[in-house]
Amino acid sequence: MNKIAVLTSGGDAPGMNACVRAVVRTGLKLDCEMYVVYEGYKGLVEGRIEQVDRNFVSDIINRGGTILRSARLPEFKEESYQNMAIKQLKAYGIDSLIVIGGDGTYRGAKALAEKGIHVVGIPGSIDNDVCSTEYCIGFDTAQNTICECIDKLRDTTASHQRCTFIEVMGNKCGDLALYSGVAEGVEIVISQDHPYDEEKVVEKLLSLKGGKKKHSLVVVSEKLFPNIFEFVKRISEKTGIECRAQVLGHIQRGGSPSARDRILATRYGSEAVRAIVDGESCIALGLFGDEIKHVPFETAFTMEKNPHKDLIKILKLVNR
Ligand code: F6P
Repeated sequence: MNKIAVLTSGGDAPGMNACVRAVVRTGLKLDCEMYVVYEGYKGLVEGRIEQVDRNFVSDIINRGGTILRSARLPEFKEESYQNMAIKQLKAYGIDSLIVIGGDGTYRGAKALAEKGIHVVGIPGSIDNDVCSTEYCIGFDTAQNTICECIDKLRDTTASHQRCTFIEVMGNKCGDLALYSGVAEGVEIVISQDHPYDEEKVVEKLLSLKGGKKKHSLVVVSEKLFPNIFEFVKRISEKTGIECRAQVLGHIQRGGSPSARDRILATRYGSEAVRAIVDGESCIALGLFGDEIKHVPFETAFTMEKNPHKDLIKILKLVNR
């Protein structure tokens, strides 16, 4: 009989709970003993482990955040911390671990797999910054949250004929900016895959100034400018356009998961358990097209992020 534990690690993402539910329910159906670990690798090292039944995951499919809580533990790179985790797992007789998180989470998981634990990684990150999948759990909900915020900002931006710069998360990955820029039809998207320097922004806004539409929206990926407020102040001075900066921040990580995220999370969770029961280990699950693929961690770490050339082309053709 497999004894499988599940944990969530790194930044929380809407849909993680739906995934935990699918892991626990699938495992129990396949006669596995199921465990949860609280607070990611930190909780694992400290032995915060609990055996659960199917009722433990009732009524969580719709809940944002992660009921298992999350933590970041940079020390988990060190072998001494990994050994503490192995000791805790062995104390419960747990042979398999499913981790839900991003690349950092996968690196910890790979280290445990090399020490004999069967491990499967599931991509969960609103940033969608995991190369071994096209979609992470939480990305869809975060996009929808961003759209809801920009819809509101559009109202006031148009009323005052201003230009509003909206900084979105992404952690050096431009997907949230690009997708929400297309979904909102904004004037400018500034992201890792669609760079814009200060002069180019000024030029574009000045070229729009004489047009019929007197307001504009700009979506900016986080971590591209040291200080978005100073950047926007300079743009305002150089263009003579009244500009505002809005940092959406952690609001993007919260909220009830979208139907798409719930379904994706459920598919990933169920597939991860089936992979373990089939004897697989050291793999990350990834969605490619409509298929969930098993990607060895080794390959996952060398894959390149999709630069979404199709969306960039569309942006240039459709947006102002
Ligand atoms: O989960 C990823 C992310 O939301 C990034 O987009 C962001 O830069 C970071 O986490 C913020 O981390 P924290 O919540 O630890 O401040």
